[in-house]
Amino acid sequence: MPDFSQLTFTVITYGCQMNKHDSERVVGMLEACGAMEVGTFEDADMVVFMTCCVREAADVRLYGQVASIKNIPLRAGSPLKKRIIAIGGCIGQRDGERLTKQMRHVDVVFGTFNLGMLPGLIQSAVEKGSSQVSILEAGEEFPTSLPTVREHSWAAWLPIMIGCNNFCTYCIVPYVRGREKSRTMEDILEEAARYRSEGVLELTLLGQNVNSYGRDLFGEARFAELLHKVDDLGFPRLRFATSHPKDISDEVIEAFGTCKSLMPALHLPVQSGSNEILQKMNRRYTREKYLGTVAKLREVRPDIALSTDLIVGFPGETEEDFQQTLDIVRRVGYQQVFTFIYSRREGTPAAKMPANATPEEIQDRFDRLVKVVEESAKACNDADAGTIAEVLFESVSKKDGTVLTGHSAKNQTVHVSLPEGAAAEDFIGRILPVRVTEAKTWYLRGEFTGN
Ligand code: SAH
Ligand code: SF4
Ligand code: F3S
Repeated sequence: MPDFSQLTFTVITYGCQMNKHDSERVVGMLEACGAMEVGTFEDADMVVFMTCCVREAADVRLYGQVASIKNIPLRAGSPLKKRIIAIGGCIGQRDGERLTKQMRHVDVVFGTFNLGMLPGLIQSAVEKGSSQVSILEAGEEFPTSLPTVREHSWAAWLPIMIGCNNFCTYCIVPYVRGREKSRTMEDILEEAARYRSEGVLELTLLGQNVNSYGRDLFGEARFAELLHKVDDLGFPRLRFATSHPKDISDEVIEAFGTCKSLMPALHLPVQSGSNEILQKMNRRYTREKYLGTVAKLREVRPDIALSTDLIVGFPGETEEDFQQTLDIVRRVGYQQVFTFIYSRREGTPAAKMPANATPEEIQDRFDRLVKVVEESAKACNDADAGTIAEVLFESVSKKDGTVLTGHSAKNQTVHVSLPEGAAAEDFIGRILPVRVTEAKTWYLRGEFTGN
């Protein structure tokens, strides 16, 4: 292991939970080498970018940010001659060496399958004074043995599988994260038990499609079984993401009724409400099947809060298709929706499909969708006004130091004023009951119940 004890670093993360978790491992590894994490580029001898290429906007942002740090001088006292810039994550995986050609001041490029090589690559870059690129096509083993530094002591993300086999026609993820690979149940349960003993309150099981967990290990999906086993560990809160609607089994749906720790919230990305578009997207379910799943979930857990992802302007989407998307949002009544304008990703099947709507039409659809989404979210929050919510407090508001922020069981953001004379630290990392006094579109306001 290289000795980085004189060096400082910062990690910039884009993209999904998977990248965020990978970043925790990057921090863990660099700290294990003796380096110290800092908060700014100015103070950092090494800057690691954990990148995302799921949409074009994320690509563009990376280039801008890497260019902008070129001119920031190294801190006084740095043992390096120049700041080390490393690019990892999904753009690293996709572009490899191209990145060092396009951006000459990039020193290290690594991919999604060889995180563990980062310290060695940095050391070579410093010693040799030349850029180091290393990308693997797929992982040999599930990368579990790397040290992790968690962002919060009370919450943990636990990857149960990596990769994706679904090849939705718009999506780059299977190309940069490889095929599905499940971690063994023993490994997962051991790590989960460790988190439990360390006082973690909220555990989130992670994967691009957790519903198919175990298919590569056992020849059949065993996610429901895993959920029950993790539930037995007795976390106050258990969540998982992401769930592909085509693979959610009745057993997983029933777990929302039988697993005590499983929170009443589920992210179930629908992408479009039109059967024709769903087919072109290769999603392998229909709107009817999706609505049937929603009905079953609500039967098992009437208070379940549903969230989703939607893409507007997929190639071939007509106004009629779009109306079907608005309709499904109204029917389901989502608590939260992540809305995206379709972004063409080179190398995916959809990149070859002709567009038939203009960018203006697509923007107009997007704006109309956002309005319906807001109505839906507001209606969900309104229904909770006056109720008592259990809130896990996570931070103090950046804008107002007397406001505490946390998340409800249904994953709503909740703001509560700090009681007079109380210290914020006494609330952070605790789950406390809160009376909901006001419902807004994207958050709730509440007050402590005083008992
Ligand atoms: N594995 C998860 C999420 C993957 S990416 C799942 O299947 O749900 C997160 C979201 O980004 C997707 O759900 C999709 O809505 C969006 N997305 C992916 N590729 C996109 C593209 N090319 N253009 C616009 N949005 C995209
Ligand atoms: Fe992409 Fe589809 Fe896999 Fe999700 S399920 S990561 S959208 S290919
Ligand atoms: Fe982005 Fe890679 Fe996640 S492309 S969404 S960071 S898997």
